[in-house]
Amino acid sequence: MKKMLKTWVFLLLLLFLLIQLYRPALNLNQRQAGSTGFIQFYKAPVTIGNILNNSCYDCHSNNTNYRWYQYIQPVQLFTENHIHSGKEVLNFNEWNQYSGRKQNRLLRSIKNQIESKEMPLSSYTALHRNAKLDNAQIKTLVSWLESQKTLN
Ligand code: HEC
Repeated sequence: MKKMLKTWVFLLLLLFLLIQLYRPALNLNQRQAGSTGFIQFYKAPVTIGNILNNSCYDCHSNNTNYRWYQYIQPVQLFTENHIHSGKEVLNFNEWNQYSGRKQNRLLRSIKNQIESKEMPLSSYTALHRNAKLDNAQIKTLVSWLESQKTLN
């Protein structure tokens, strides 16, 4: 019995080491400033830019601020999966490339996601505690979003 347990532990350890060899490309575009796209487009005030940067850009921009454990598999796999699907629906850095119609739809969607506290994802804020939006931040974001003409 003890021997079998040892074999299992060994096999799991081996598996853990082997999956470390898988290295998907990181979401790091060094040449792109964080402020390109959305923030520039709306000339958003620094407070708005900072909140979005801190709470949304890890999954909705071309630059993720990785934590050390996110380089370890399988955490990196989950991380990249979130980034991939997040960027697919909304990439703040590529805001200029969206049609007016899409920008409108997304602005409304951003407001809804923030108001309903669906974003940032709770699985993310569990570990990135300072990314969680407090009520004051939600209020600031929502009233700023509402003041954008294209939201009508
Ligand atoms: C941990 C990664 C992550 C973070 C952080 C995050 N999102 Fe998302 N977001 C996603 C993923 C993945 C999706 C797509 C799937 C889903 O809806 O769950 C998404 C979907 C969305 C959508 C829906 C887009 C559409 O098609 O209507 C909006 C809007 C959005 N996020 C806004 C935000 C905002 C605003 C923040 C910051 C306050 C934020 N997200 C933070 C991962 C993230």
